[in-house]
Amino acid sequence: MSESTVVTVIGDPGYDITIGRGILPLLAGALPPEARKVLVVHPPTLAAQAEELRASLGDERQVLLAEVPDAEQGKRVEVAAFCWQVMGQADFTRTDAVVGFGGGAVTDLAGFVAATWLRGVAVVQVPTTVLGMVDAAVGGKTGINTAEGKNLVGAFWPPRAVLCDLDLLDTLSPNERVAGFAEVVKAGFIRHPEILDLIEVDPVAVVDPHSAAFRRCIELAIEMKAQVVGEDLRENGLREVLNYGHTLGHAIEHAERYRWRHGAAISVGMMFAAELSRLAGRLSDAAVHRQRRILELLGLPTTYRAGAWPQLLATMQRDKKSRGGMLRFIVLDEVGRPTVLQAPDESLLYAAYQEIAA
Ligand code: GLY
Repeated sequence: MSESTVVTVIGDPGYDITIGRGILPLLAGALPPEARKVLVVHPPTLAAQAEELRASLGDERQVLLAEVPDAEQGKRVEVAAFCWQVMGQADFTRTDAVVGFGGGAVTDLAGFVAATWLRGVAVVQVPTTVLGMVDAAVGGKTGINTAEGKNLVGAFWPPRAVLCDLDLLDTLSPNERVAGFAEVVKAGFIRHPEILDLIEVDPVAVVDPHSAAFRRCIELAIEMKAQVVGEDLRENGLREVLNYGHTLGHAIEHAERYRWRHGAAISVGMMFAAELSRLAGRLSDAAVHRQRRILELLGLPTTYRAGAWPQLLATMQRDKKSRGGMLRFIVLDEVGRPTVLQAPDESLLYAAYQEIAA
């Protein structure tokens, strides 16, 4: 085990996020000591590693494995019901625990299953993707989708601990790693410009999980998320800044029927938000240019189809994050200073879209 970093989320109770290599042996100690049964929720691609986790947890506990479909296919009520069935058949009690072992969709599902079983049992999240580590597994948002939309059913259910073992990223494709990095870039623009400097210095090394730059970026992004959700678990205020790039990004994901990676859609969404910030007289040309250059250096998309605006606008207006029918966007006053732009004029939105339309 190499040296690990611990980031604490302040709360009641708070929890630790441990970042390092070879840290899966910490899982046993992260579980509630009284847990006699542990349900490990994992996708098919991690079946062998889930077996290893089972073995590492020893004989003192009964470890149940729930193999679930990966990505959005796993975030369905039928899949949650399968997990509940496994728990029910094993007489899973209130003192037992769930482990989410997978990407963001799997940790969302595992958290939801934990939040709902007997009105809530402990969950330890072990994210296996960049996106899971810097976003989904941290902050206690859990949920599943319905036919009507994403994340419409869920609960705020903070984990007992999060273990980010960077060894797990070695099997990800470079595309997956880079797409997950979009959320890291977001952290750079809304809070930690050091991330942006590291990308500019070496955009290749920064997405290599074995580089010091990668580790530093992941730690900074997690630290940012931990601090925000520690202050505002239920998104009553500050947490909304995490939606930078997400209002248009979600609409693009919807238009693409979720075949685009989340990070790619968020990348375009951030470009739109930056242009909107500039046109609203808040952000400088240089900062917008810098954001475009950084996303391009990483190979992330910054444009979208020119004719798609009416459809995207209609989807955004339905977005659950619009309050009282009014569209809200997170924009930047400058790098590191996000703020809310409420009900901007549609002509301003259209002008911003023109700047990113290809
Ligand atoms: N992914 C946004 C949030 O956790 O609030």
